[in-house]
Amino acid sequence: MSDLLQALQWRYATKKMKSTKKVPQDKVDYIAEAVRLTATSSGLQPYELLVITNYALREQIRAVAWNQAQVTDCSHLLVFAAWDNYTPERINQMFDLVNAERGIINEGWEAYRQQVLDTYPQRDAEINYQHAARQAYIGVGTALIAAAVQQVDSTPMEGFDPAKVDEILNLTERGLRSVVILPLGVCAAEIDFI
Ligand SMILES: Cc1cc2nc3c(=O)[nH]c(=O)nc-3n(C[C@H](O)[C@H](O)[C@H](O)COP(=O)(O)O)c2cc1C
Repeated sequence: MSDLLQALQWRYATKKMKSTKKVPQDKVDYIAEAVRLTATSSGLQPYELLVITNYALREQIRAVAWNQAQVTDCSHLLVFAAWDNYTPERINQMFDLVNAERGIINEGWEAYRQQVLDTYPQRDAEINYQHAARQAYIGVGTALIAAAVQQVDSTPMEGFDPAKVDEILNLTERGLRSVVILPLGVCAAEIDFI
């Protein structure tokens, strides 16, 4: 069996984590880099990945996340926060970044930029947010796989109040909305019930 399938067989949504144990930073960096390399529609990368270690912040988040213990027992809480809308500035920034990375300006790519500019900003903000959130879910999938490859325990979570998390992390003023959170930690296998 491939290493990847073995890692995926090992993975499970961890319910109990050891609050005294920390995931090594190099493993967290590996997971974040895997998310950065994930495909997104038009390469817009329309979400941010926040890594929360601050305990007081995580306590506040736990209170609006069904009191789920992994939020405070993990060592790193990943928050996937999608753009609340597509604006010309955001679209141009990402197309410019592609040009800068490639070191060339391509006519086909520029025509495609115009097509996206002519389409996305005119749409309803909620439709654009939903599109961005779908990209974030692809990133969550990558993070789950990367964590399994690194033998890092994790739990994907939608069980929280997004509006409250947005408030705690000041996401609204940054044009972001929380989509999924992903605690990374060390499982307490002896007391985990699933
Ligand atoms: C998008 C998503 C949201 C989830 N939200 C929660 C959650 O809030 N709390 C939780 O304990 N598990 C959550 N889970 C974990 C699932 O319950 C779990 O993945 C499922 O029961 C299958 O178990 P396994 O991942 O251990 O194979 C979520 C999973 C996904 C993919």
